[in-house]
Amino acid sequence: MKSEMENDILKVLVTEEELKGRITELGAELYERFHGKNPLFLGVLKGSFVFMSDLVRACQVKSDVEFIAVSSYENATTSSGRVKIVHDIQQDITGRNLIVVEDILDSGNTLAFLSEYFKTRGAASITIVTLLDKPSRRTKAVTADLAGFVVPDEFVVGYGLDYCQQYRNIPYIGVLKPEVYSR
Ligand code: IMP
Ligand code: MG
Repeated sequence: MKSEMENDILKVLVTEEELKGRITELGAELYERFHGKNPLFLGVLKGSFVFMSDLVRACQVKSDVEFIAVSSYENATTSSGRVKIVHDIQQDITGRNLIVVEDILDSGNTLAFLSEYFKTRGAASITIVTLLDKPSRRTKAVTADLAGFVVPDEFVVGYGLDYCQQYRNIPYIGVLKPEVYSR
């Protein structure tokens, strides 16, 4: 397939095949944990939208789907530390078993904030599933219940993850060339 963005990628960190294989495993694990429990898949926008769509199809439990949109980055590659709800959940989550779906767990600011928020909204349980985990950068005591891949301390894009809102539609996880940041 032709790609306008390929030239901006320094290296591929996780291939499409690796993503597919691991998501099949995550779906199976979630099936074991949640069948019969009618969980709510709750995606954290925007980054999780690609992962979310593959994960829910890899896990054939009776469930429904919800999204919350937050922003903390303000178009830089390091977190501002403040998390803002940009679009809130549209349903009552009291008593629900949540599967919170994130693209990447980095400093932990976002998921520390959201876990607290979902508790105050009455969730019965919160299970955090992140596609990528960057444990080297954690500043908050947050751990994922399930993580797809542990990645090194490099800024990654693709499969939902962006740099300045771009590159989300690259089908694999890659690292950008340094010159892209200095443009
Ligand atoms: P945290 O709040 O620092 O854990 O960061 C969570 C959010 O920051 C993620 O949901 C991403 O949207 C964004 N983020 C963190 N690291 C990266 C990266 O390497 N590439 C793209 N987005 C990232
Ligand atoms: Mg995100």
